[in-house]
Amino acid sequence: MKRLFLGVGAMAVAAGLFQLTVFLRSEHQRKLASLPIKERGLALLDDLGCSDCHQTGSPLRAPILPGLFGKTVTLQDGTTVVADEEYLWQSIIDPKAQIVQGYQATMPIYQGQLNREDIEAIIAAMK
Ligand code: HEC
Repeated sequence: MKRLFLGVGAMAVAAGLFQLTVFLRSEHQRKLASLPIKERGLALLDDLGCSDCHQTGSPLRAPILPGLFGKTVTLQDGTTVVADEEYLWQSIIDPKAQIVQGYQATMPIYQGQLNREDIEAIIAAMK
């Protein structure tokens, strides 16, 4: 009997924690949605783990993203490309298509995990 109570107690605590997590996550998303597009993009870079690689001093070396928009990028094959909407969009959903010179192709593929609004906000964060 005692074990049953303990079991039910543990389940109630687990359910409570689950509800709390769901609540906090939706609060976080509501807060994100209310931010101006550029700030939302910067927050997404952290939330999605992009910043784990894309930040100064990361051992998982990757180019710094804020300020990248409009710059000229040299690719692995020596050709150059301007970091416009189209290039950045492709770099995010299909990172293996064009590899930046001096870097490894370690970026994960996010296709299908980001919606159009997320990508637009992320690109805004690079302006
Ligand atoms: C595991 C490390 C890693 C993660 C996580 C990662 N990237 Fe990258 N990313 C790279 C590396 C390395 C490169 C450079 C090589 C290449 O072009 O793929 C790169 C390249 C890019 C480029 C092109 C940069 C340039 O200078 O032209 C963009 C844009 C980009 N990533 C965006 C993102 C976004 C947005 C996310 C999160 C949704 C993300 N990355 C997550 C490693 C990562």
